[in-house]
Amino acid sequence: MSFEHMHIISMKEFTRDMIDHVLEVAEEMEPIARSKSGSDLLKGKVLGVLFFEPSTRTRMSFEAAMMRLGGEVLSLGSVDASSVAKGETLADTIRVVAGYSNAIVLRHPMEGAARLASEFSTVPILNAGDGAGHHPTQTFLDLYTIKRESHLEGLKIALAGDLKYGRTVHSLCYALSFYGAEITLVSPPELSMPSEIIEDLKKKNIKVIEADSIEDAIQYVEVLYMTRIQKERFPDPAEYQKVANRLQITPEVLKNAKENLRIMHPLPRTNEITPRVDETPHASYFDQSFYGVPIRMALLCLVMGVFE
Ligand code: CP
Repeated sequence: MSFEHMHIISMKEFTRDMIDHVLEVAEEMEPIARSKSGSDLLKGKVLGVLFFEPSTRTRMSFEAAMMRLGGEVLSLGSVDASSVAKGETLADTIRVVAGYSNAIVLRHPMEGAARLASEFSTVPILNAGDGAGHHPTQTFLDLYTIKRESHLEGLKIALAGDLKYGRTVHSLCYALSFYGAEITLVSPPELSMPSEIIEDLKKKNIKVIEADSIEDAIQYVEVLYMTRIQKERFPDPAEYQKVANRLQITPEVLKNAKENLRIMHPLPRTNEITPRVDETPHASYFDQSFYGVPIRMALLCLVMGVFE
């Protein structure tokens, strides 16, 4: 199975076999990510890093992945200090940076930006989030976390929080449908999962349950995937104020949780998971952010053709 030169734009381009292969390669990468052994698999390779929106985990885990494998990173840095501030188009920026690098990781506020970039790039584009569109490398690390901390096949999972604007939960639903998940949705009515996604899941014979509260869902789910209310995507700030603080996980909320419940969150969090939850055996979100490194190592090696 070859991924060489492949653009990673959305999970829609992946079959179950392809996903399983990425997860297997990530398992091989994990000891290197934990720096138990060095590697020069990507020695001489350069990753172009273009972030037009803020990021901590995605940008730094891509950079860590590249560095742990002996490669180098070339960052645009602050957009304001680049020629984007002079009005350079995304297409021109991509054409230029492709000439300096072996792959480009791109985060951009415009939905469809990564797809557009792929049309102008001579090297693979890895979509690190395009507005409310897709964030496929996040989905891969979410799947990897579930595989490592729980199990993928027939998983009972609750997705909670902002299911309307949260791009991570949209991609995750589609990916989990390959593994016969049972998906429970918990959100304020204004932020419910788009109906077309629910219809798509039902067509794939995925059981979708709409629960009234997190307390109800955690009595039977094995993974609770919490998300932040995406304040920056609300057209009207007053609408955000109506739903802010509506869902919050505390140790008290978890009192009837299954013993093996794992709580995940793509992070950053605001106040939807109180810090007191971090001390419970259910908290998996910091392990989840670490797993971004072996997953991004795997994807970089695959698209740069140093691993099959
Ligand atoms: N999960 C995630 O995408 O985090 P960052 O915005 O910090 O990259």
